[in-house]
Amino acid sequence: MTARIVLFGATGYTGRRTAEEMVERGLRPVLAGRSASRLAPLAERLGDLETATADVTDTASVRDLVGKGDVLVSTVGPFGQLGEAALSAAVQAGSTYLDSTGEPPFIRRVFEEFGPLAEQTGARLLTAFGNDYVPGNLAGALALRLAGEQAHRVEIAYHITGGGRAQLFSRGTLVSLVGVATEQVYTWRDGIRAEPAGARMRTFPVAGHERPALTIGSSEHYALPRLHPGLREVDVYLGWFGPLTRAVHLGSRVSDSLLRLPGARPLARRLGELAAGRVAEEPDATALERVTSHFIGAVFDAAGTPLSEVRLIAGDPYRLTARLLAWGAGWAAEHGVEATGALGPVDAFGLDVLEAGAAEIGLHRP
Ligand SMILES: NC(=O)c1ccc[n+]([C@@H]2O[C@H](COP(=O)([O-])OP(=O)(O)OC[C@H]3O[C@@H](n4cnc5c(N)ncnc54)[C@H](OP(=O)(O)O)[C@@H]3O)[C@@H](O)[C@H]2O)c1
Repeated sequence: MTARIVLFGATGYTGRRTAEEMVERGLRPVLAGRSASRLAPLAERLGDLETATADVTDTASVRDLVGKGDVLVSTVGPFGQLGEAALSAAVQAGSTYLDSTGEPPFIRRVFEEFGPLAEQTGARLLTAFGNDYVPGNLAGALALRLAGEQAHRVEIAYHITGGGRAQLFSRGTLVSLVGVATEQVYTWRDGIRAEPAGARMRTFPVAGHERPALTIGSSEHYALPRLHPGLREVDVYLGWFGPLTRAVHLGSRVSDSLLRLPGARPLARRLGELAAGRVAEEPDATALERVTSHFIGAVFDAAGTPLSEVRLIAGDPYRLTARLLAWGAGWAAEHGVEATGALGPVDAFGLDVLEAGAAEIGLHRP
């Protein structure tokens, strides 16, 4: 029997798109959110779906959303502030959980703090199951399979081309990004190691140009070493800052020391939220249609010699996020996920199933 799917955050930008993609796939999720009056028209438009109200400030209401065999999908963010209630509810119920976070500190908590608890209750936690960071996990795992035993270092890169100067991020994403810029992130060197975001910079050839990118924290640092125990180094690069990359790189060192001052982090976060409040709630839909997302997984041996590279592309990152969440939830509801704890996308579905599922929803080799 197919498990029940609950989509928490259905009335937000990412949640609404995810609900539409789920219905497109023939799923009938329960639409959950904090406002019954905002849920009702969406549920009606998508075919009289069931609804449920819950607010993260009332953790019992979130716990009531899920039972043991259910699949809970959360798009309620910023996850650093609002994400814990849904995650805890899924762990306590022993359910399958997917979320749309891209925030390194939250991902770190899922793997280090909630993963061991989930192993005890039988819950399955699939964090960052969107454009951030499923494609890098897939490209990296495919490249590692090609590279074989000699693999020592893997580099993952995320780039975007074709958007021009348009607003490509929702206000929700901007608020989350601002939060991330004020936190320490991490990399993998034989284990997780803390460092500021943007600590390292390099260029990647993408769409005919050398494009700069900066290091960030993500889920590949936790998930890829599990697939290849010989792996010693994992770096994940984000190339979304374009010509500003060098300034962000230099700024990361300056802001990291400034942010160590008492009271600086809450202030920086508040200023960022105020700035984000001045941008439109939704990204520019026409510009998103023109965008190409590029994902690279490149593997090197201990001497730095390239062993393998796999490239993937997709279109609009929000569509990809919505489709990944819908595909992952649908697969988990129909087939179940055997492993427990905090899982990378390949741990949960296996490389071949993930590659085929990704290709079906528009994430494929060029
Ligand atoms: N990984 C990726 O590639 C990726 C892609 C897209 C988005 N994201 C992330 O996903 C998150 C959502 O983004 P978005 O653009 O959809 O933002 P959004 O439109 O602001 O949506 C936020 C959602 O959270 C809900 N919410 C806020 N406070 C709540 C509370 N107290 N209780 C219950 N629900 C509450 C909102 O409910 P209301 O509708 O009632 O306000 C809304 O549904 C962000 O963290 C963003 O960074 C990541």
